[in-house]
Amino acid sequence: MTSRTPLIAGNWKLHNTVAESQALASAIAAHVGNGLACEVVVGPVATSLSAVSQTLRGSAVGLSAQNTHWEDSGAFTGELSPTLLADVGCSHCIIGHSERRQYFGETDAGVRKKVAAVLAHKVVPIVCVGESLEQREAGKTLDVVLGQVEAATEGLDAVALAPLVVAYEPIWAIGTGRTAKAEDAQDVHRAIRGRLAELKGESWSDSIRILYGGSVKPSNADELLAEPDVDGALVGGASLSADNFIPIIDAGVRRAES
Ligand code: 13P
Repeated sequence: MTSRTPLIAGNWKLHNTVAESQALASAIAAHVGNGLACEVVVGPVATSLSAVSQTLRGSAVGLSAQNTHWEDSGAFTGELSPTLLADVGCSHCIIGHSERRQYFGETDAGVRKKVAAVLAHKVVPIVCVGESLEQREAGKTLDVVLGQVEAATEGLDAVALAPLVVAYEPIWAIGTGRTAKAEDAQDVHRAIRGRLAELKGESWSDSIRILYGGSVKPSNADELLAEPDVDGALVGGASLSADNFIPIIDAGVRRAES
């Protein structure tokens, strides 16, 4: 029994038109209704945020952006800001996803600025951390992951960081069908919580949700969510169909009720 409410979040990445996004959001909202024992969030592409926000009105499903700039406005062609995300109804924002770090030059310093910026607009940051296969094989998993966690939270205190969500996503498990073994995920999650405790205090770290991401599917969700420090999931591929995502939500409910 944990006091942390499980969180199941779908990262739709670069998929779905507005109509497809609304249809998927609507099927998920119908399942979640006005609330379950676990929290549920969906993360459509930026062009669907406004429409999905309308679809989700009156449901307990939260809305997440997949990225943001840290500035509120200005000469930043192509960017979105925390002000605009809040304006369109986003409750959450994924920050520092490995695909952004890998393909779009996102740095730890940028992640830290984005975390502070979204928190200032009462948008919950879902901060992604994770090691590559090469780093894992070199025994550097904890160095990399704990370094990313430390950088993302630097300069912010436990009060400001109260809503923080961390997502541990080993890069080698993303979209590959290779999931971390539940006990390996638990080891990293426990280490993340331990580092958070050292940085900002144990009562705060005990309240922070740490999600696992990387090939989560209906068949492995219960096993992962049975681990004491795995407080939910950040789901890519399996969040793109209600038939796959809803059973993962139900695994989150089982964790909440266990
Ligand atoms: P997959 O679930 O497709 O492996 O993606 C995980 C992920 O990157 C979620 O942010």
